[in-house]
Amino acid sequence: MPKITYFHPDGAIDTVEVAEGTSVMRAALANSVSGIVGECGGQAMCATCHVKVRNDADLPEVSEDEDEMLDCTVDERQENSRLGCQLIAGRDFDAIEVDVAEHQV
Ligand code: FES
Repeated sequence: MPKITYFHPDGAIDTVEVAEGTSVMRAALANSVSGIVGECGGQAMCATCHVKVRNDADLPEVSEDEDEMLDCTVDERQENSRLGCQLIAGRDFDAIEVDVAEHQV
């Protein structure tokens, strides 16, 4: 099963195994991983699922919609910033490590 590891600003770490097709955002909500809100339900319209990818997972390019939303994140956008709702286990990665943004709203 694909694995997602979330690194939190306070040093805590959560690792979850998820079914293929699960997004980084949905996996966080389903496993009570704090720090990801997912206000729009995964429509790339809220930027409250902002994460920064740590490992060099072979991810798809940022889409135009994702790019626009990443300019609206509460925490400053970084080069490795992505929307967790747009990163799909099994399709985009088998294992991914992400830093959770300190603030989402
Ligand atoms: S959940 Fe809203 S942009 Fe990802």
